[in-house]
Amino acid sequence: MASMIYHHDERAARCIAEHYEQPPLAYVHSYGCQQNVADGEKIKGVLLDIGYGLCDSPELADLILFNTCAVREHAEQRVFGNVGALKKYKQAKPGLIIGLCGCMPQQPQVVDKIRASYPYVDLVFGVNRIDLLPQLLTEKLEGKKRVLLEPGERPEVVEQIPAKRDSSYRAWLPIMNGCDNFCSYCIVPYVRGREHSRKPQDILQEFRGLVEAGYKEITLLGQNVNSYGKGLEEECDFADLMNLLCTVPGEYHIRFMTSHPKDATHKLIDTIAAQDHICNHIHLPVQCGSDRLLKKMNRHYTVEKYLGLIDYARKKIPDVTFSSDIIVGFPGETEEDFQGTLDLIRKVEYMQLFTFIYSKRAGTPAALLPDETTHEEKTERMARLLAAQEEIAFKLTAQQVGKRQIALAEGPGRNPGTVNFRLRNNLVVEIPCGMEWAGREAMVLPTGARGAMLTGELAL
Ligand code: SAH
Ligand code: SF4
Ligand code: F3S
Repeated sequence: MASMIYHHDERAARCIAEHYEQPPLAYVHSYGCQQNVADGEKIKGVLLDIGYGLCDSPELADLILFNTCAVREHAEQRVFGNVGALKKYKQAKPGLIIGLCGCMPQQPQVVDKIRASYPYVDLVFGVNRIDLLPQLLTEKLEGKKRVLLEPGERPEVVEQIPAKRDSSYRAWLPIMNGCDNFCSYCIVPYVRGREHSRKPQDILQEFRGLVEAGYKEITLLGQNVNSYGKGLEEECDFADLMNLLCTVPGEYHIRFMTSHPKDATHKLIDTIAAQDHICNHIHLPVQCGSDRLLKKMNRHYTVEKYLGLIDYARKKIPDVTFSSDIIVGFPGETEEDFQGTLDLIRKVEYMQLFTFIYSKRAGTPAALLPDETTHEEKTERMARLLAAQEEIAFKLTAQQVGKRQIALAEGPGRNPGTVNFRLRNNLVVEIPCGMEWAGREAMVLPTGARGAMLTGELAL
């Protein structure tokens, strides 16, 4: 796998400096998963590199960029709605540049729709093309009416794109791009392209930089981190990579997502158990609890194999917790299939569940399957799933009360004068203390549970 290195684009920087009297401002909004958020941070880094400033409101901006998600129809509709609302900004400020990037414009029909129906969108480019942004902006500022890139694959990994990170203590660290799994419902492999792993040494260098800069929580990202290492010159799987990163001295902890059950190994679980730097929380999306549907989803595991992994992790990793994604209403889901999902979540007892009603994605194999379940039935199943999960989450949360443990202070809690601390197991404890704690770690004691929310005190 070839990799190339990002270079500062002096021509773009000059073009921008000449075009504006003062440094122009950019508003960048990312939708979707953490990978997209990490891309958004790179987009901001590149914009700063060529002379833009950043702003938090579209009214002030000279450039508005929506970094989009295509995973469900609802996500796309929201983006189109929000793009529609930008028309008034363009009328008020004709020099405003409006752009759409990320996963949506990796679909030809989206680019066609923008071309035909959203004439005030100036710039369109897909994922993996962030390093081209300076050049695309230059073309626009030099007079080209619209710069709309057609979807395309990128045959190389681009290293050293500067990132403007949103937090000074939690960092996203993508270790790979793309996805080769082709779960039958999922658009991601089509929009993100083939899976490519970054070289271990490149990841290590970035990781070390983050630890040295004081980052306390580093989340390794990939659509399926468990298949990390395919196609690399040297032999290095995901567990090897984490062992390598854990050689970096410092006070930090590692999270990772997403872990695909089909490629989760005992070696991975043993590594989590052995390394103090790795959190005892695993996001292991199961999607559903019916073997029949898992097969149709192209997930390559059975409920039994999945539960086997959970059991093994429970035995090896003290106080391990799990979270998962569930799709309700996959084409052909029967009440029996759904009962399988309910059984499974009760067996595993997830700390958190991210639940989605199936959304048909054009171009995916599942879009061709007959789907006779009505939307009402699907919503009703979803309500039952959420009720079952609530019971589980409340129980697990209550079990944390009285257990003194380490946590990272993230930001203001819901009540004034409180700060939210995230435990290693991913639960949040609200603690009365000052904001000077933000970004710092402390021992805390959960003292009470309100639903899935904990309250507590510092236990230094
Ligand atoms: N790579 C990750 C997930 C990426 S997408 C993984 O394999 O787990 C995040 C979640 O969105 C998926 O886990 C799935 O639950 C959900 N999802 C993906 N496509 C969907 C669709 N067409 N309809 C509803 N939910 C979907
Ligand atoms: Fe989608 Fe499956 Fe890839 Fe996850 S592993 S991104 S669900 S195709
Ligand atoms: Fe959405 Fe793209 Fe992520 S489709 S979920 S932003 S990979």
